[in-house]
Amino acid sequence: MNKSPIILGIETSCDETAVSIIQDNETGIPKILSNIVSSQFDIHKEFGGIVPELAARSHVEKINLIAKKALDESGITLDKVSAVAATSGPGLIICLSVGLNFAKSLASSLKVPFIGVNHLEGHALSPRLQNNIDYPYLLLLISGGHSQFLSVNGLGSYKRLGTTIDDALGEAFDKTAKLLGIEFPGGPKLEKFAEKGDSNKFKLPKPIINKGGCNLSFAGLKTAVLRITKNIKSNQEKFDLAASFQKTIEEILYIKTKIAFKEFLKNNDVKKRSFVVAGGVAANNGIRKKLNLVSKENNFESIFPDHKFCGDNAAMIALVGLEKYKIKKFDGLDTLASPRLTLDQKAEFLKGSGIKI
Ligand code: KG4
Ligand code: ZN
Repeated sequence: MNKSPIILGIETSCDETAVSIIQDNETGIPKILSNIVSSQFDIHKEFGGIVPELAARSHVEKINLIAKKALDESGITLDKVSAVAATSGPGLIICLSVGLNFAKSLASSLKVPFIGVNHLEGHALSPRLQNNIDYPYLLLLISGGHSQFLSVNGLGSYKRLGTTIDDALGEAFDKTAKLLGIEFPGGPKLEKFAEKGDSNKFKLPKPIINKGGCNLSFAGLKTAVLRITKNIKSNQEKFDLAASFQKTIEEILYIKTKIAFKEFLKNNDVKKRSFVVAGGVAANNGIRKKLNLVSKENNFESIFPDHKFCGDNAAMIALVGLEKYKIKKFDGLDTLASPRLTLDQKAEFLKGSGIKI
């Protein structure tokens, strides 16, 4: 086995075509030789959301070019690649298949191992692209499709402590943004709107705040926002509603994180308390501030990946690939896309009406 393996990682689970090349390093933090992300905002913007067929088509058109760009930037040649890793799920099946098939063909032609990666595991380990963090650590994963508190006990070992019972947080941001007339993807722009508004102007609900442990719920907020937007007349009121939404989310996360800290400490005997916040929504500065505060108050060290590693990227996929490569956990070329992969296979499904929390 190569002493400093080089992994080529590919991510196409949703609307980003991404390729990254990383190399193992004795510091424990890999060298990121290249990290190319091509977003499809312009393609989906006019539809107000992601259109799977258009996303897949764009991946097909771009994957060769992005891979070539990543290789050129890394300064390495294909014969130096030790393994090829690609997201195998969760995500849109026709999008996943593009990256997966490209990766399997490349691995096969180079005669190197292929490694299928759980996209969520990429987000979960993403802070390890920049920091040495000991297991176990508490993770809050907040993205467009997921919102979960997890105890990360090691590679492939996760215990879910709480999850959203309806919308993901990124989804709540995007839907609220849409109601405010902000174009897709609205999350980052909603944060900018919020900066110009009065956060005490509108009172929004905090669903399941006093029950359900550290489970989360955001659907009620969207309904409340919808009701208010019907009576909104000025831009200033829009800014005020955005600010009120942002503040409510911060308060929900503050309270639920406190509960998650307790649950985590009940399950784990740790010398150092680490709290990692990952996924696209972890780029939100207001949320970062509030979670920094609750961490300080509870003697946890809060760790946020760099903004470029919060959203979807292939460096995090290559990182999981590297960890798996080191323990020779390879996958067959018959690996299929798994749109519904989870991190904690034993966790109960908690979405839909009639659930008890
Ligand atoms: O992790 P990610 O890139 O893709 C998924 O795996 O879902 O997350 C994308 C989500 C989108 O919903 C986007 O609106 C949200 O993250 N997002 C934000 C911010 N930046 C991205 N939400 C709130 N504030 C932000 N600054
Ligand atoms: Zn993601």
